[in-house]
Amino acid sequence: MAPQEIQSLGTPRPEPEGTSPAASPVTLVTGSVRGLGLAVACACAERGDRTHIVWRGSAGAASEAEAVFAPRVHRADLTRSADAKKLVGDVIARDGRLDHVVHCVGAYTSGPLVETSFDDWRRMFESNLETSLHLAAGVRDALRASCGTLVFFGCAGLEGLGGRRQAAAYAAAKSALLVFARSLALEEATHGVRVNMLSPGIVPHQDAHPDTESPKRLASIPLGRVGTPAEIAEACLWLSSPKSSYTLGQNLTVSGGWLI
Ligand SMILES: NC(=O)c1ccc[n+]([C@@H]2O[C@H](COP(=O)([O-])OP(=O)(O)OC[C@H]3O[C@@H](n4cnc5c(N)ncnc54)[C@H](OP(=O)(O)O)[C@@H]3O)[C@@H](O)[C@H]2O)c1
Repeated sequence: MAPQEIQSLGTPRPEPEGTSPAASPVTLVTGSVRGLGLAVACACAERGDRTHIVWRGSAGAASEAEAVFAPRVHRADLTRSADAKKLVGDVIARDGRLDHVVHCVGAYTSGPLVETSFDDWRRMFESNLETSLHLAAGVRDALRASCGTLVFFGCAGLEGLGGRRQAAAYAAAKSALLVFARSLALEEATHGVRVNMLSPGIVPHQDAHPDTESPKRLASIPLGRVGTPAEIAEACLWLSSPKSSYTLGQNLTVSGGWLI
């Protein structure tokens, strides 16, 4: 994605002259140099948040994102708890606090169960669930200090814990994440932290999995179209703001009615 395309998703406001930068919220968005995470990060920056982004392997996309987000660009592999701790330490060292966290990391794989290898199962749980555990542990104290918010990314169709033909490993990992997110919401509420989940439907973007283009899936979306990264970002902004101050432990599905 070119810098001008990143800009078109949302232009960060410069820190206003003569006002304390400490007045604007500090937001950390993971999985954020491409895809839905990038759209969320751009929307947060446009809102005026001091927005920190994170990449793992996409060096090219990260260097393009530098144009908009420097000096708040970090590299971390969130399957490692040490990386999660260091990441949060670096955010606090830079801006002194942390108000909102959005965790967009979450690998996807599809295929029938009979063809799903144990490595695939492990990768789905590592990417979707274990990164969330590490990040939640890393940000806990900072979010308690700010009475902040934490949003995890699920996927449409989690309510009711139904089976998912052709994507069992991914759906199982996201279902486990939903139970984790709700449990964390219950425990952190007493510390003033609000935890919620945002579950997109089918949202193509430059790097999305080819499944987002499946005509059969598209035909089953009640609103008759796929979603856009901007629509997902808008819902995420709401969950990461005082506007959702009484919303806790919820799974907000943004799918045009798909799999409701
Ligand atoms: N797009 C959809 O239609 C859709 C639908 C339902 C749910 N979702 C969920 O929405 C979230 C975002 O989806 P997406 O399509 O934008 O995903 P994506 O294109 O695969 O992007 C994932 C991002 O996560 C980062 N990442 C992956 N593993 C990481 C790790 N171990 N440590 C740190 N960063 C890591 C990647 O960074 P690098 O590239 O630098 O490695 C990448 O920027 C995911 O949780 C996904 O399951 C998406």
